[in-house]
Amino acid sequence: MAYLDLARVSKTFLSEGRAVEAVTPVTLGIEAGQIVTFVGPSGCGKTTLMRMVGGLETPSGGEIRLAGDLLGGPDRRRGMVFQSYAAFPWKTVAGNIAMGFRYRRDLGGAEKAEGARRLIDLVGLRGFEDSYTNRISGGMRQRVAIARTLAANPDVLLMDEPFGALDALTREHLQSQLLRINRTEEKTTIFVTHDVEEAILVAHRLVVFSARPARVLDDIDVAAILPVADRDQSIRDAPDFLALRRQVQAVLRAEQRRAERQEGDNAA
Ligand SMILES: Nc1ncnc2c1ncn2[C@@H]1O[C@H](COP(=O)(O)OP(=O)(O)OP(=O)(O)O)[C@@H](O)[C@H]1O
Ligand SMILES: [Mg+2]
Repeated sequence: MAYLDLARVSKTFLSEGRAVEAVTPVTLGIEAGQIVTFVGPSGCGKTTLMRMVGGLETPSGGEIRLAGDLLGGPDRRRGMVFQSYAAFPWKTVAGNIAMGFRYRRDLGGAEKAEGARRLIDLVGLRGFEDSYTNRISGGMRQRVAIARTLAANPDVLLMDEPFGALDALTREHLQSQLLRINRTEEKTTIFVTHDVEEAILVAHRLVVFSARPARVLDDIDVAAILPVADRDQSIRDAPDFLALRRQVQAVLRAEQRRAERQEGDNAA
């Protein structure tokens, strides 16, 4: 069994008396230390799948296991970053990050302080430690949320469009940092994004989902094509990168057309 193991995981919502099938049985085994990126049409069920892995949503069917343990509600083994993750407004940047360190029994006070400084640099918030988070920009708040999640050092990082609201340069910086963190700490990560380039750049493995209900359309071993060890932003120009980008975009476009046709058939 894989480290993070999704076996026939499905989700059907009951909404105003109507059943909405969001995730059709998905089976995925994720190896420890891997970054797996998810792409797929808007509304296909990616967030729902992530929320189930995080324990925020109960699967309608199937099982999710981490290191063999059946997962239930949220716990500190899984850390989540969402696109619009609100930082605690009544706390400063440093105070928010300290919240992440709260349950770290493995660190002493001095180590936590050093860790907090390191994370503040990592997300580029040096100088803003004492600012209240309702007085900083949305992109900065998002970086606070990322730092706080990393501070808690979860076994699995769940990132749902974490960089979507950031400017291009900050985004590239954080993509590079994510790769760097993964190289040093080998943190198992699921990363959802609409940006195909980002999905390739940070991935060991890339999973393409169908239109709703989400099922796996393509599952690409990116690390076998683009070695993770020498990944940096310059890889965007590499022929293998460009070929992979075209391949993923072609799968997404074909799926878009198929979904539109099916919608047309259903309406007729
Ligand atoms: N709590 C809920 N109750 C009813 N339906 C829901 C609920 N949450 C999600 N859905 C439905 O499930 C489907 C999948 O939604 P989800 O947010 O998982 O998609 P997504 O792939 O994350 O989309 P996006 O890329 O736009 O973020 C949608 O049709 C959505 O309306
Ligand atoms: Mg989503």
